[in-house]
Amino acid sequence: MVRISFGVNHACDCPAIKTQVLDKIATLDHNLDDTTLSTVEWAMAELLCNPEKLEKVRQELQLALHKGEQFEESHISKLPFLKAIVKETLRLHPPAPFLPHKSEKDVELCGFFIPKNSQILINVWAMGRDSSVWENPNQFMPEMFLGSEIDFKGHDFELIPFGAGRRICPELPLANRTVHVTLASILHCYDWKLPNGLKPEDMDMSEKFGITLQKAFPLQAIPIKKLVIVLIAGMKAAL
Ligand code: HEM
Repeated sequence: MVRISFGVNHACDCPAIKTQVLDKIATLDHNLDDTTLSTVEWAMAELLCNPEKLEKVRQELQLALHKGEQFEESHISKLPFLKAIVKETLRLHPPAPFLPHKSEKDVELCGFFIPKNSQILINVWAMGRDSSVWENPNQFMPEMFLGSEIDFKGHDFELIPFGAGRRICPELPLANRTVHVTLASILHCYDWKLPNGLKPEDMDMSEKFGITLQKAFPLQAIPIKKLVIVLIAGMKAAL
């Protein structure tokens, strides 16, 4: 088993599979920006905090992929629960919690007068937790997105972690694919558990607000090898 901290420090204490796991985490650290990495970290934290949902997505992956098959982008469309997990993670933990904008002219919005040149911070975090829009807004409930048309592509204003309109994140398609592929790959390659007998209900899910929204305490999780057995078997067969 390997101990992994998502976030800045990645401790690993098992030579047997450290190469594989560290490769993945190194890929996360070097190729993913803060926003994408934070989304994957929060999704993993929520799944470890809600083991029944972790099991559900694990089963979905098992059904969608053949044994030992590597996860590829084309699999995403077969994984509605994984997609729902990403939406729910971005609702609860938008990496950019406040969107800074400026009014070009005087405008009246919902009864409020906003003078020209006002600096406006759109509170995306609060929108995701608005109890007049979402049922049980503080709970991690990916199921509510199953069969729902709501998406984060900028058309549904209750869910705009990438912004909306002309200033919407230009890299939404890239970030969307990267988050799904990364999350699915680490879920598919390893089983995960919490370190030191930590119980899901005792996990610290505090948030640290800044330009980006981070986990106050980086997630620590233990990956348990899964695909390694298949890979070793494949290597032996090739020798
Ligand atoms: C989960 C991942 C990501 C999220 C949630 C996200 C979210 C956002 C948000 C909310 C904005 C501001 C929108 C607004 O002002 O209304 C933004 C802007 C931007 N994002 Fe992303 N982003 C992500 C990933 C990325 C990635 C991977 C890149 C680049 C490789 C990127 C590049 C940009 C750029 C260049 C802007 C500025 C656009 C402008 O000012 O017009 N984003 N993003």
